[in-house]
Amino acid sequence: MSWFKKKKVTLEKVDMSNLPSHIAIIMDGNGRWAKKRGLPRTAGHKVGSETFRTIATYCNDIGIKYLTVYAFSTENWKRPQDEVDAIMNLLEEYILEAFEKVRKDNIKLTFWGDRTRLSPKLQQMMNEVEEKSRDMTGIHVNVCLNYGGRDEIARATKEIATAVKNGEISVDEITEQMISDSIYSKDVPDPELIIRPSGEIRTSNFLLWQSAYSEYYFTDVLWPDFKPIELDRAILAYQNRSRRFGGV
Ligand code: IPE
Ligand code: IPE
Ligand code: MG
Repeated sequence: MSWFKKKKVTLEKVDMSNLPSHIAIIMDGNGRWAKKRGLPRTAGHKVGSETFRTIATYCNDIGIKYLTVYAFSTENWKRPQDEVDAIMNLLEEYILEAFEKVRKDNIKLTFWGDRTRLSPKLQQMMNEVEEKSRDMTGIHVNVCLNYGGRDEIARATKEIATAVKNGEISVDEITEQMISDSIYSKDVPDPELIIRPSGEIRTSNFLLWQSAYSEYYFTDVLWPDFKPIELDRAILAYQNRSRRFGGV
């Protein structure tokens, strides 16, 4: 409960009985953070990975049930190879550490995205850490890695089309629920709150299906500078929204 106890700046105003159960974050702004300091972009990713550890711990401490973070998109392969390699190395480091930590901190860790393009070593580590943390009952953290919302929906479409082709279901039996059950988030409720730091106001292909009624929170703070107090601010903003879901 480290941060929760020490840091009560805005948390006092946060209604602890009305926390979002699922928060999703587009961890953006690492490159600009580094550039501002005359450092290589990879230095920004390194500090960004520390921010992720801090925020995941904080979410666990205050009782958030699910945290989904966008770590690498299906479009991020366009970046220079040394940057891609640096991000993959940081992910490896995090997973190695997670092997030790998941049971101690009661964290369930899963990965969303197309694994086939990742290195065999990384894929194996991902599978193993998922298996190791499968029965943990604390926060459930989903790391989106080679993830794209469109890719996810295209995959679900193929799966459902195959079921139709094999005569398992008819076209008329296709429902929204069936799509929800065929995507990475099948065991996880939709995020109530999606946060994007760094000043960009777009989804960049994140959780397209799941975000239908999510509340968005945008801030100019760059991800490496994102502190628990920024999360408090996002939660406060969320708690002041009127969620109508199409009703009145
Ligand atoms: C987010 O930070 C991390 C990844 C996309 C992997 P960026 O690297 O996109 O940082 P900016 O947006 O260039 O500042
Ligand atoms: C989205 O950020 C992907 C991640 C944070 C992992 P990008 O930096 O790739 O998005 P764009 O290019 O600004 O839309
Ligand atoms: Mg970016």
